[in-house]
Amino acid sequence: MPLLRSGPEGLELEGVRLSDIATRFGTPTYVYSLAAMSTAFEAYRAALGGRHASICYAVKANSNLGILSAFARLGAGFDIVSGGELERVIAAGGDPARTVFSGVGKRSDEMTLALDAGIRCFNVESAAELERLNEVAARACKIAPIALRVNPDVDPRTHPYISTGLRNNKFGVAFEEALGLYRHAASLDHVRIAGIACHIGSQLLDPAPIAEAASRLIELIDALSTEAGIQLEHIDIGGGLGIRYRDEAAPSPIEYLEPVLELFSERKEEILLEPGRSLIGNAGLLLTRIEYLKLGRDRNFAIVDAAMNDLARPALYDAWHDIVAVRPHTQEFRNYDVVGPVCESGDFLGRDRSLAIAQGDLLAILSAGAYGMTMSSNYNTRPRAAEVIISSGQAHLVRRREPIASLLALESGLPDS
Ligand code: LLP
Repeated sequence: MPLLRSGPEGLELEGVRLSDIATRFGTPTYVYSLAAMSTAFEAYRAALGGRHASICYAVKANSNLGILSAFARLGAGFDIVSGGELERVIAAGGDPARTVFSGVGKRSDEMTLALDAGIRCFNVESAAELERLNEVAARACKIAPIALRVNPDVDPRTHPYISTGLRNNKFGVAFEEALGLYRHAASLDHVRIAGIACHIGSQLLDPAPIAEAASRLIELIDALSTEAGIQLEHIDIGGGLGIRYRDEAAPSPIEYLEPVLELFSERKEEILLEPGRSLIGNAGLLLTRIEYLKLGRDRNFAIVDAAMNDLARPALYDAWHDIVAVRPHTQEFRNYDVVGPVCESGDFLGRDRSLAIAQGDLLAILSAGAYGMTMSSNYNTRPRAAEVIISSGQAHLVRRREPIASLLALESGLPDS
């Protein structure tokens, strides 16, 4: 992780001691570096050069208002997948007119909300959704700007749960049906064709599949123009650039985008990107304290105060996150399974990690900025972690630790019978 250094008092992020953060805000706490976010964002901007393009941050990766407002200030647009995410973008000062709305199951009320807010584009994923959007827009006396999210049937060569651009995935309109559906869209009174979109998967480490998807989109754009007289304003190639969690050779934005930009070099359409993980994943860590060490004949366990409800990725995808001790220690190195207090054997954050640790020590679970807090839950009635952003040497609390009372607040017992 960038900007994580070891100092005399242990690990520091952007010069702020993680032990001080634990003392001030408790654990578990997600800690993010603003400088790392802005470096990641600028790398995209530099890769795009002067090209007419928009970087629409994928809100699902991390939707904290502090994070969204930081990206808005850096000049990002947004990619949302729910009405709730739109409300967050607006609350964080993001611009709806620079926001695209993806997702296979948009409800009518979410469409109305997005039309009222004046979002930039609906990425429509099926014929049925197009019909509904046309009706909802008619009722609201509005014209909905649309792109069809096309499924280019390209293998992104990533984890099957996060690969989205293959024919048998639920996402997007089948490539061979897209032309017909665009023609139909052109005949509808309450939609306006603005662009084309695709997103083939996440944690991509090879630029080839995204270039392949882009060239399939170009085939369609040309067919649209010659066969149906439809001109598009933008091409949205989605997100997906992977990051280094362990020892992966993740391409930089420039390496990732170069083949795509080459394909688009003679074209006038604006390029939209929807990166999530590569903007925030390596800017954040989860800080946790060791409650107990449990040494056994076959396995040793470090039982920490974070769990699968805080960071689901290891349990869900068998994902690897580096785990490091915050303070250099004099203990001997042993292999530990780092586990949480949740009552499931799937509740692990890392297995077989060589650590020199004692009860009460702090651990940092690295590269946890993306799909960490946003996928957290209250399983086992565990309040969600606090979140802190470090900016210019100062730690800012951007989400308080959830009080138990707010977990109970929406519930009630049955009336007396
Ligand atoms: N656009 C669309 C339409 C998406 O579905 C996604 C992610 C993105 C953009 C952003 O992709 P990124 O740049 O972050 O790869 N929970 C999983 C990742 C799920 C990704 C879902 N879609 C994980 O923890 O690995």
